[in-house]
Amino acid sequence: MKESRARSERFSPSNLPVGSRPELAMSEAGVARAYKRLAPVYDLLFGQVLEPGRRRMADVVRTLQPASLLEVGVGTGLALARYPTTSKIVGIDLSHEMLERARERARGLPDHQITIEYMNAERTSFPDGSFDCVTLPYVLSVTPRPAELVREIRRVCKPEGTIVVLNHFSGSGFWWLMERAFRSAAEHIGFRSDFRYEEQILSHDWQVVSIESVNLLGLSRLVVLKNRRA
Ligand SMILES: C[S@@+](CC[C@H](N)C(=O)[O-])C[C@H]1O[C@@H](n2cnc3c(N)ncnc32)[C@H](O)[C@@H]1O
Repeated sequence: MKESRARSERFSPSNLPVGSRPELAMSEAGVARAYKRLAPVYDLLFGQVLEPGRRRMADVVRTLQPASLLEVGVGTGLALARYPTTSKIVGIDLSHEMLERARERARGLPDHQITIEYMNAERTSFPDGSFDCVTLPYVLSVTPRPAELVREIRRVCKPEGTIVVLNHFSGSGFWWLMERAFRSAAEHIGFRSDFRYEEQILSHDWQVVSIESVNLLGLSRLVVLKNRRA
């Protein structure tokens, strides 16, 4: 296990053949480095363009009115303002530079109950069943080990709690062409272009409550899941 982790650090995503850039190509340090660079321009590049998806995700959360909510990969905190003021919100991320901006946003929302913490979502310090709802906006395909992340969020979410995944999954038609055109640029910032809904969502033993296409030309999908004890 240790050996394979050490080996993964030596891989560069661009050295791997097309279509085979999965778990091994990324590391916690690599994600932190990528978002350190992106943090100053993140809102400009990905704020508005990904906002419709965040808005729909927050609509789902507002309908649920969870007492406790974990946002995984909170980034610069772009979704925070739309969550219910009655929810106890915890936002975690592994980029200090993104978190600084999320903290600043949280300070500007005095009616909300928000805690922002540095934590790797693949191995958190939360006890089992800590949250009624867990949201993952645009994080599942950039985390080093998506299956580990899923295992961990299912542990910290209550057994009948709700998990909301907002992500781009490998597409067809227009987005299939775009993925291929921008594959190396996307992977340079730690974004997997080959990320299949069937593998990442349907292979787990949770209940798919709803799925909808969001963002420009259906770039992303919003998937609402009911947790079950893994
Ligand atoms: C594409 S950004 C999304 C930010 C924000 N959620 C949004 O809506 O724009 C992905 C974020 O997930 C964070 N991230 C990636 N893997 C993570 C992990 N294992 N644990 C915590 N945060 C992670 C990155 O540092 C980055 O801030």
